[in-house]
Amino acid sequence: MLPGQQNLNQTMLDANQLASLKETIGNYTPLQFAWASGYLAAKSEGSPVATLPTAVQTQVAATLTILFSSQTGNAKGVAGQLAKDAEAAGITVNLKNIAEYKVKTLKTESHLLIVTSTNGEGEPPDDAIAFHEFLNSKKAPKLPSLNYSILALGDSSYEFYCQTGKDFDERLQALGAKQVSPRVDCDVDYEEDCAAWSVNIIETLKDDLKPSSDSLASVINLPVAGIVESQYNKQNPYAAELSVSQKITGRDSAKDVRHVEIDLGESGLTYQPGDALGVWFENSSSLVAELISALSLDENENVTVKLNGSEQEISLKQALTSSLEITQTAPAFLEFWANISGDISLLALVEDKNAVRSFTANHQVVDIVKQAPANVNAQQFVDALRKITPRLYSIASSQAEVEEEVHLTVGLVSYEYEGQLRLGGASSFLTQHLDEGGTVKVFIEHNDNFRLPENADTPVIMVGPGTGVAPFRAFMQEREASDATGDNWMFFGDQTFTQDFLYQVEWQAYLKSGLLTKMDVAFSRDQVEKVYVQDRIKENAAEVFSWLERGAHLYICGDANRMAKDVHHTLVDIIAEQGGLTAEQAEEYLKSLRSNKRYQKDVY
Ligand SMILES: Cc1cc2nc3c(=O)[nH]c(=O)nc-3n(C[C@H](O)[C@H](O)[C@H](O)COP(=O)(O)OP(=O)(O)OC[C@H]3O[C@@H](n4cnc5c(N)ncnc54)[C@H](O)[C@@H]3O)c2cc1C
Ligand SMILES: Cc1cc2nc3c(=O)[nH]c(=O)nc-3n(C[C@H](O)[C@H](O)[C@H](O)COP(=O)(O)O)c2cc1C
Repeated sequence: MLPGQQNLNQTMLDANQLASLKETIGNYTPLQFAWASGYLAAKSEGSPVATLPTAVQTQVAATLTILFSSQTGNAKGVAGQLAKDAEAAGITVNLKNIAEYKVKTLKTESHLLIVTSTNGEGEPPDDAIAFHEFLNSKKAPKLPSLNYSILALGDSSYEFYCQTGKDFDERLQALGAKQVSPRVDCDVDYEEDCAAWSVNIIETLKDDLKPSSDSLASVINLPVAGIVESQYNKQNPYAAELSVSQKITGRDSAKDVRHVEIDLGESGLTYQPGDALGVWFENSSSLVAELISALSLDENENVTVKLNGSEQEISLKQALTSSLEITQTAPAFLEFWANISGDISLLALVEDKNAVRSFTANHQVVDIVKQAPANVNAQQFVDALRKITPRLYSIASSQAEVEEEVHLTVGLVSYEYEGQLRLGGASSFLTQHLDEGGTVKVFIEHNDNFRLPENADTPVIMVGPGTGVAPFRAFMQEREASDATGDNWMFFGDQTFTQDFLYQVEWQAYLKSGLLTKMDVAFSRDQVEKVYVQDRIKENAAEVFSWLERGAHLYICGDANRMAKDVHHTLVDIIAEQGGLTAEQAEEYLKSLRSNKRYQKDVY
């Protein structure tokens, strides 16, 4: 107990007053407490309470601030669970999206936890851009009284693994803050590491932050904002029916893209345009059989796998089908296999991080096992693999139009490796293995970083080649249903007009009705010179700039590796040229659009 803490109750309120206060607040909801504490604080302005001794203030302000910055919802989910666990341990929690956090209050914090993912190429998620900039700026205050810890989510197949978490950690340390527990970097199968970090950090902070049982602070429990509860979520997905799976690329297309409809039935799941659907999948039985045969193992042998936090014994076949990633290869698996096989070329490869990244991106687990055979037992092998993770798909429908259905635009990942057809895990499950009427486990991943403008008059520019078209179909359905009057301009592109114009009939109907103000298309293989969406944007430079100047919101969806970068560079060129700005000023222009939520990306 802090010195002076006991005195607060004794000197400020007599026993009757204290009893009466406890009785009055006894039935308050958390929200009523929050309101009442604000009311009392306002009442106390200028009174002696405002100048309480430091020890007393510390007691009242002993709040654990948890900030999350998340692009696709993982960090947000982890932070929400962490907040609940901390509250259950008696800690008063202030949970906030980092975008809504007032950076000036940082110097008044005593205990801060940040849960952040990394986006782009080692960049912060959209929500964290301002905070990241602030921490790196001269404005960032010294933070000698801050105790903090960081949980970083990332993907070890990226060059800048968990970079945003590392950046925050480095800056907070440089500003004098004290790391109460080391940062933990979590890979795509983050659940176990996150849970372990959460348990550890709550245990570490509990004594510092948990108010004594008879003090006021022990009952003041701020409501956890920003987390929408739903019966169905990533851990508890809804078993939905796949009602339609229809190929929407032509017979001669180089691509297989499907329009998929899933029935959300009585689940009560709701979504907004801009959200994504999370899809759990099973690996194909033929791939599982090929892998087990390459390993010379028995598919019926039992292995232990940790599922939903508890260890379960299932057959090797079952584990490889539904619990483990075998279509994506983790760098850690390559290292394991190089060592166990003793293969000279793999051992040389794992010395070079860049080479590991490109090799794992092009080789599935089975290809590596076949390339460098080794003796391994079933449990060893299973332990070296990552847990299966659901894939996200941008939702291509609006509930205003399709009610309890959800539509997706799924591109089948398919390529040949040494004469063998290799397919993506989830995209082949959805488009090839699951029949109409079959069951697929889904959840909604909300994405507040990809939203139509609040004002229905605001123009929008949508850039969505290939499957990037998906959320814009949802946008159009929503704008039609809500009689939105803002102009709509769509840029679409793919390989050929005849084979790859996704939802062509719908776009033409929108143009005809006038809902779609303008559409520009780029079919790269329909002429000798390759033409892409960024070329169409450039051809329309003056008009694009004038739309931006009159307040248009600009959206990019689809390929992150090339398209989104090329479009961004084109936008910088256009803004510089049309606005008479330098390249740096044009970047600033886009940055300010981004921080005003007028330049949003949903790229993968
Ligand atoms: C927010 C978000 C929204 C998304 N929206 C959509 C959407 O609307 N539509 C859509 O189709 N996808 C979308 N995706 C992508 C989707 O989530 C999956 O990543 C995609 O379907 C591939 O998953 P998979 O399981 O089929 O393939 P995986 O099993 O993940 O991939 C298999 C392996 O194949 C490798 N590989 C892929 N192509 C080749 C190649 N040509 N040569 C060699 N190796 C290759 C990969 O590197 C990987 O290792 C979205 C992703 C995100 C994050
Ligand atoms: C477009 C894109 C870019 C990414 N870039 C990185 C990266 O540079 N470094 C990294 O460690 N992880 C990267 N990731 C992986 C995410 O950080 C990881 O999937 C994380 O769990 C996402 O958490 P979130 O849903 O809270 O954003 C990227 C993911 C996507 C979709």
